[in-house]
Amino acid sequence: MHKDAEPHEDGGKREHVGAHMVSVFINGKRHVVPEHATIMRAIEYAGHQIIRGAGCREGFCGACGTIYRLPGDYKLHTGLACTTLVKEGMSLTQIPSVPMEKAVYDLETLTPDVSAILQVYPVTFRCVACGTCTKACPQGLPVMDYIQAAMRGDVAAVADMAFDCVACGLCALRCPAEIIQHEVGILSKRLTGRYLRKESRELDDRIAEVRSHKYDGEYRKLMAMDKAALSKLYYARDLEP
Ligand code: SF4
Ligand code: SF4
Ligand code: FES
Repeated sequence: MHKDAEPHEDGGKREHVGAHMVSVFINGKRHVVPEHATIMRAIEYAGHQIIRGAGCREGFCGACGTIYRLPGDYKLHTGLACTTLVKEGMSLTQIPSVPMEKAVYDLETLTPDVSAILQVYPVTFRCVACGTCTKACPQGLPVMDYIQAAMRGDVAAVADMAFDCVACGLCALRCPAEIIQHEVGILSKRLTGRYLRKESRELDDRIAEVRSHKYDGEYRKLMAMDKAALSKLYYARDLEP
């Protein structure tokens, strides 16, 4: 969801001489934007302020689901606005949320097998194995396979396959059986964590350290930092390979 932002200082003239620009259609209106911009950057460059449909801006939170078409291509493509680059002639709109009814359940009353899927998300069994969800997933996850695993009650396999799901909802948007795949994934991850994974001694140790205030000094240091210092620290962090 966008609203018009204040005009830029260039008075709205953005077709800079010498810059490599492309034209895109945002919600049906043509805009000229830099060719290497992400969709999110292009929307903002065009003068919109994104007030819904942006979060981490790094491909992690799933808030920026977008659908688009390209010239001469009949397909409706899906992507995350913060990581997908614009292309000449792209016609796009953001889908900041996919309507759904989230089931309320008590994990302690469920068992980690097919009965839980049947009880909480019976719609899962409407899957016709068309593969549309897998094609729609911007994370490249085998969505159809994890729904099939859910139908077999193999919640541990679902949890593994859906591990990198960012809950953008684009699979659910395209599913002809109207399944909410990511919620099936979340349920399976919870069941797996609660019942199937071995207890972690490392986690227990870390919780004990937190409770003994071992990290309070470091937290205080972080809380006192300004945005620039926090940002520098964040990007210098060690990432798991
Ligand atoms: S599985 Fe669905 S909700 Fe999760 S990232 Fe893929 S498309 Fe988005
Ligand atoms: S889009 Fe829906 S019906 Fe098709 S494979 Fe995925 S879950 Fe099944
Ligand atoms: S803004 Fe978080 S995934 Fe795009």
